[in-house]
Amino acid sequence: MATATTERLFDELACVLGQDLEGTCRRNEPLSKHTSFRIGGPAALWVEAESLADIRRVHEVAACHELALTVVGRGTNILASDAGFEGICLALGSHFRSCAVDPEQRSLTAGAGMLLARLVQEAQSAGLAGLEFATGIPGTLGGALAGNVGTRLEWIGPLVREVTVYVSHDGLQRLRGADISWHYRRSSLRGAAVILEARLALIPDDPQLIAQRIDGALAHRKATQPLFVPNAGSVFKNPEGVSVGALIEKVGMKGACQGDAQVSELHGNFIVNRGAAQAQDVVKLITEIRDKVQTNYGIELTPEIRFLGSFDER
Ligand code: EPU
Repeated sequence: MATATTERLFDELACVLGQDLEGTCRRNEPLSKHTSFRIGGPAALWVEAESLADIRRVHEVAACHELALTVVGRGTNILASDAGFEGICLALGSHFRSCAVDPEQRSLTAGAGMLLARLVQEAQSAGLAGLEFATGIPGTLGGALAGNVGTRLEWIGPLVREVTVYVSHDGLQRLRGADISWHYRRSSLRGAAVILEARLALIPDDPQLIAQRIDGALAHRKATQPLFVPNAGSVFKNPEGVSVGALIEKVGMKGACQGDAQVSELHGNFIVNRGAAQAQDVVKLITEIRDKVQTNYGIELTPEIRFLGSFDER
């Protein structure tokens, strides 16, 4: 719970950072504006960095005042608490959305703030294949790398040749893709640093054929996932060899509601916000699903979504 003293500190820091940064700093910024769930109370400070100096400065301030600092991409995999986040949320501004294609090297270098959807398009226009699986996956390249996003069969890790990150105290580091551990919906980049840029290795191909594969992937997603209602992607990770969506359907939770939160009728592993859902509504559904799957199948589900802020009710 924020005290009057911490509130004053955040007020002062909002002024200081507002002056120091090339980017922007907002006080009590609603996280519901920055999450695909459209859920979440205020972030005490919301910073959009426009330079490396901004990122450094925000880390200095957080360390100096012992404040929580978290990096947020497009908020597509996040459930933010109704009480918000009592710390600094750092997002990458337009400076980190550049993209350059190198046909000679068969590679594409992009800023971590760039939308994955845009990257898929850039690769297609340049006649570089390999990213089609990412069609319809929301969020930024940085988020995609942190979570090693993908489908059931393919994910982004194996395409990565190099990643540039900012590590507090150590500064810039360049990591080889092969030295990063890539796991199912998780990579060693998560939590360790601010991901700034990555170079992906792709394969030359006919742009029309790439476009056809993109269309096919999008049609499949549209048919199986609730793409046009606010949600945060898969709620749980699939346990080895099992589809959580099917399990959730079998325990009868598909379509279940709590307030304005609903287990999607299209895909059981998605929860959608039908209007004014609160984080606590989503948490109640998550708890009910976990209990039912545990009781009926003896399987303990692990959430794939990231929880931001405090959740007493979890
Ligand atoms: N199924 C059901 N009921 C449901 C949902 C699915 O019976 O409500 C069945 C389907 O009929 C199918 C099987 O479960 O036979 C698998 O379903 P699907 O192809 O949708 O795959 P998934 O395992 O549910 C995974 C990823 C998705 C990714 C898809 C397609 C996870 C947790 N989910 O879903 O990733 O888009 O494969 O490749 O790994 C994400 O991570 O956010 C995400 C959306």
